[in-house]
Amino acid sequence: MATPTLAHGDASVPIGVGTWAWGNQFLWGYDPAQDAQLQATFEQAVALGLRFFDTADSYGTGRLQGRSERLLGRFRQALAPEDQQDLLVATKLAPFPWRLGRGGLKRAFEASRARLGGRLERVQLHWSTARYAPWQESPLLDGLADLVNEGLVASLGLSNFGPRRLRQVHGQLQSRGVRLASLQVQCSLLAPRAIEPGGVADVCRELDIQLIAYSPLALGLLARPPGAVAPPAGGVRRLLFARLSPRIHPLLELLAEIARSRQVPQAAVALNWCRSHGAMPIVGLRTVGQAQMAAAASRWSLDGAERQALDAAARGLPVGMPANPFDSD
Ligand SMILES: NC(=O)c1ccc[n+]([C@@H]2O[C@H](COP(=O)([O-])OP(=O)(O)OC[C@H]3O[C@@H](n4cnc5c(N)ncnc54)[C@H](OP(=O)(O)O)[C@@H]3O)[C@@H](O)[C@H]2O)c1
Repeated sequence: MATPTLAHGDASVPIGVGTWAWGNQFLWGYDPAQDAQLQATFEQAVALGLRFFDTADSYGTGRLQGRSERLLGRFRQALAPEDQQDLLVATKLAPFPWRLGRGGLKRAFEASRARLGGRLERVQLHWSTARYAPWQESPLLDGLADLVNEGLVASLGLSNFGPRRLRQVHGQLQSRGVRLASLQVQCSLLAPRAIEPGGVADVCRELDIQLIAYSPLALGLLARPPGAVAPPAGGVRRLLFARLSPRIHPLLELLAEIARSRQVPQAAVALNWCRSHGAMPIVGLRTVGQAQMAAAASRWSLDGAERQALDAAARGLPVGMPANPFDSD
């Protein structure tokens, strides 16, 4: 594994909320019976000051596609009007092969906005098509820029783009007078590529693009105490955890040690490692307790020595999270 940078982050980097699990049966074992608990989680997160919520039009498996957006829209509408105001809900639109041309995402955008109850602050292209259909991407991005210029959505972001393509798209949007607000990529102690030298974090800093870290807990693996035996429910997570856990022991030990000395949950240490590198973690939440943990984590920061020790532990690992296959260069 290459060496992560030791660049300082910003204690003011917030923590956001991810909602992939809200509707996903395959990986996350979603059941509609969980909706009341998810609503309580959402309300707790908002009450404790979490403001950024990430979703996608492809979230929700099978007939539940779009469920995450629907739930988010419903939960937001149930808040008091003043609480609905200052949230930033960001969806991701998938560049499926049949979504083509400048207007190719317009209907998808309208459908997402409707599922979200008419409130959608940011639209993000879910992944780059550079690896398999490079010609598809630019017109789609022009279409998203149109949405911003027409005042239909406040801001525009990307997801799963590498540094070279990020620069290109930034230039394309700049020529349209549209600011690229954010880039979200997988980023955690088990996936530190974004913050390594030459990674997207450098480009984001240079071009003033907000860097968003998805799967900051490596699907929950980084929140598990070293030696935890009970596997999580769900086949794919169970297999991944079983493969990685025995080989990341030194990292888990260090996370647990920092958590003990600070008297905070281990998950909070992993989230704050992202913040220490300037990336806003969007953590998947399913319980009120997890929302409380996330909000509490945003009120303290790692010190330099803790960050450097975690950097070194991540650097020494023989394994990491699988990379997203759509990540462009
Ligand atoms: N752009 C993309 O392509 C992309 C890809 C993946 C994810 N994302 C976004 O990033 C978000 C977050 O990533 P993720 O959901 O993949 O994984 P994650 O945030 O790394 O892990 C989420 C899981 O960690 C566990 N967890 C959370 N808080 C905890 C705590 N305090 N203590 C113990 N365990 C805790 C929970 O597992 P349990 O619920 O089992 O307890 C939770 O479901 C997604 O929801 C999605 O919005 C984007």
